Amino acid sequence: MPADTDPATQNDELIRFTNVTKRFGENTVLDDLCFSVRPGRHVTLIGPSGSGKTTILRLLMTLTRPDSGTIDVNGGRLFPADERQRREVRKKIGMVFQQFNLFPNMTVLRNITEAPVRVLGLSRDEAEERARGLLELVGLADRAGARPSQLSGGQQQRVAIARALAMRPQVLLLDEVTSALDPELVAGVLDVLRDIARTTDITMLCVTHEMNFARDISDEVLMFDAGKVIESGSPEKMFSEPEHDRTREFLGAVL
Ligand SMILES: Nc1ncnc2c1ncn2[C@@H]1O[C@H](COP(=O)(O)OP(=O)(O)OP(=O)(O)O)[C@@H](O)[C@H]1O
Ligand SMILES: [Mg+2]
Repeated sequence: MPADTDPATQNDELIRFTNVTKRFGENTVLDDLCFSVRPGRHVTLIGPSGSGKTTILRLLMTLTRPDSGTIDVNGGRLFPADERQRREVRKKIGMVFQQFNLFPNMTVLRNITEAPVRVLGLSRDEAEERARGLLELVGLADRAGARPSQLSGGQQQRVAIARALAMRPQVLLLDEVTSALDPELVAGVLDVLRDIARTTDITMLCVTHEMNFARDISDEVLMFDAGKVIESGSPEKMFSEPEHDRTREFLGAVL
């Protein structure tokens, strides 16, 4: 039996895109895209600007929908699916954006407890206990009462990471989470993410221009171009001896 139809193989996939096409007007951003991610893996998406990396993460967050194809997460169907099913599957996925997107009028603690209380139905006490543990993890235990505007960009981004983790997602999506930061704040955020990659079994899908970081944490690197995965492999292979001209060109430009 070929590997792609073997049920045992399919069960070992946490995320699967099957023939996903996404267009914006005349622009075909994802073109019959197929790829899958196994549980617990750390996968980095690379590729030129406009190659559809953010679109893939936004599809997983159900912030946008495909024109055709199917997207499955943890055995549940995200697309096509009815709204109720989609919400269930979507709960397993957390995302951190380039622009933190914290609620400016809430304290740090409240930013982290809000969704667990509202969406997961945790009591305030449970949610706060969880939030304090996560603030410890991201090195901000003493800033629980602060407002986002009183924090540096790096601190805000670490709060955004804690907020995503508070939902106990199986999948964490990271879209250029350090690109908006002053250079001296980048390392602190990447250290937190390295820590999470090392100490949890969360599956990570990461778009980044920080190639050293990508090399450190990734099990696999996917190179996108023109709406498809044109090459994939271990970071060692992808960064040291890519096979595809487009990958070589792209890495030549960013490294
Ligand atoms: N809401 C939208 N409306 C119209 N076009 C869009 C929209 N969102 C994305 N696009 C287009 O889809 C293509 C892919 O965008 P996407 O943001 O996924 O690329 P990307 O790989 O994340 O690029 P970058 O590295 O610059 O962040 C681009 O051509 C973009 O202009
Ligand atoms: Mg993008």
